[in-house]
Amino acid sequence: MIRSVVRGNGAALPRRTMKNADFEGMVETSDEWIVQRTGIRQRHVAADDETTASLGEAAARAALDSAGMTPADIDLIILATSTPNNTFPATAVEIQNRLGMHHGFAFDMQAVCSGFVYAVATADLYIRGGLARRVLVIGSETFSRILDWNDRSTCVLFGDGAGALVLEAQEGAGAITDRGVLAASLRSDGAHKDKLFVDGGPSTTGTVGHLRMEGREVFKHAVGMITDVIEATFGEAGITAQDLDWFVPHQANKRIIDASARKLGIAEEKVVVTVDLHGNTSAASVPLALSVAVADGRIKRGDLVLLEAMGGGFTWGAVLLRW
Ligand code: UT7
Repeated sequence: MIRSVVRGNGAALPRRTMKNADFEGMVETSDEWIVQRTGIRQRHVAADDETTASLGEAAARAALDSAGMTPADIDLIILATSTPNNTFPATAVEIQNRLGMHHGFAFDMQAVCSGFVYAVATADLYIRGGLARRVLVIGSETFSRILDWNDRSTCVLFGDGAGALVLEAQEGAGAITDRGVLAASLRSDGAHKDKLFVDGGPSTTGTVGHLRMEGREVFKHAVGMITDVIEATFGEAGITAQDLDWFVPHQANKRIIDASARKLGIAEEKVVVTVDLHGNTSAASVPLALSVAVADGRIKRGDLVLLEAMGGGFTWGAVLLRW
């Protein structure tokens, strides 16, 4: 059977970093509160000339380089983002143009923090359906543009960045030992909209709006939703937590990551944590975490890797793949 195999990955971060202490003069907060409640120590913040498209393009080029490919090899670009450059056209199409690619097709995928997991699952269907052979899957965000910088309960949590994967159709045996995407489960429930949303949009206010979150409410649901969808993915693949080499979760809060791993019985040393470095970068968080763990030699070819995310909507999902 056809499998969607990872051929390359890449990442891009804005030049400027903001440490927790940099917020102390802006809102009533402290490095101690932010570290204790979230695990975040710093985040990258985009300058005016750094956008979702430019960061996404840089991550895509890095992923293509690591795959030994050029844009000519790609059939489809899926960009996961909630912070597009424009309301339309899709920022994926802008990235396609920036890459000098005028064949194939590109579209944005909007599932907030779960966007990258949704995009990998979607790319896998295009590949297995025979509609694309090589897909660039990008998560790129500039959440700094939609933050209310006077709201201490949200402005300290998020950061900007981008990450990308190149997936390629390869023949597999249909076994759990195959490389590539092995299982995926996606969920959403719009009943939770008011707990995490942006208070503007083209069809309502005609403005971009600002991110609003009832953090405690999101936290209450997060661990249960994450563990449910992961258990469904394990069931589909016929594996248990012990079979995993690496758990690469969405990086929103170290306490959510730790509680999810503990509930699932995933050993601490198998969990990739980058929330301290990047903050919550929404759809970019999983590919950014992947890029760190691949660059430092933790994730190697043949490793069994579980991706997971949960965010606004609510949306949540998991993807199991062999690197
Ligand atoms: O990526 C999408 C998914 N998003 C998430 O997963 C986020 C989920 N939620 C969280 O990560 C946590 O709920 C937060 C980090 C947002 C907040 O942590 P918490 O332990 O749930 O704190 P809390 O909201 O219950 O607030 C505790 C206190 C409050 O003060 P009072 O009411 O106890 O007097 C807040 O006003 O902390 C206060 N607070 C702050 N204090 C200092 C809120 N933000 C800050 C801040 N600095 N930045």
